[in-house]
Amino acid sequence: MPTPLVAGNWKMNTTVTEAEALAASLRRELDGLPGVEVALCPPFVSLERVARALEGSSLKVGAQNMHHEDKGAFTGEVSPTMLQGMCQIVILGHSERRNLFGETDELVNRKVRKALEVGVRPILCVGERLEERQQGREEAVVSQSLSACLDGVASPDGLPHGMVVADEPVWAIGTGLAATSEQAQAMSALIRRLLADRYGRQGAEAVPVLYGGSVTPANVAEFVSQPDIDGALVGGASLDAQQFAEIVRITAKTRSSPLVRLG
Ligand code: PGA
Repeated sequence: MPTPLVAGNWKMNTTVTEAEALAASLRRELDGLPGVEVALCPPFVSLERVARALEGSSLKVGAQNMHHEDKGAFTGEVSPTMLQGMCQIVILGHSERRNLFGETDELVNRKVRKALEVGVRPILCVGERLEERQQGREEAVVSQSLSACLDGVASPDGLPHGMVVADEPVWAIGTGLAATSEQAQAMSALIRRLLADRYGRQGAEAVPVLYGGSVTPANVAEFVSQPDIDGALVGGASLDAQQFAEIVRITAKTRSSPLVRLG
């Protein structure tokens, strides 16, 4: 099983000062906690200050997006090389990027390939919309999207080193209406099977598969006690240091239980 990962997606929240304070308080709560990786993903303008606030700690810094070109005439964009050295992680293909800013699987695929090339771990987000689930098409939609986003993605040894996938049903994001643990496990197992088809069993098992969508301290244990859910991508609750720290602690404890390991 991969090391569990909990990432906080702060979205377009926090001023630079607030971001720095939140990072400092999470460092005090979580630095050195064994059995889990933690990543904080503030807005671009706060990345450097958050990176400094976390320097020398076990907490990692992530961006919420990036362009796929190294540099050029792309007004308003941030390039992979600008993130190198400052971020260890980047969220790619979040449904808000797809639905509000028109990102396609093809574009997300370019970004994923580029992130791996420059050594920043991508958290590739996939997930169905409510109407797609109501029509019973969620597995087909996620399979197709994942396959398009992973086209050509592999290290020279054929394995997806550094890759993270997040199952984020669009209807569960920011709604307070999380998926059930059965729904999330079924989707994560499907993602794992698709990864195994592409990279073999060993490759698939090395990829953390996260659940995201209205995760809270009250429901996270249900998710991370499922065999195929290796952590969480947290939006709203990641803006509250106590709540996020609790989510991380519960994840570390639950994933280290022998029952989870047996699946
Ligand atoms: P939420 O957001 O936890 O506020 O539902 C999750 C996400 O967008 O990654």
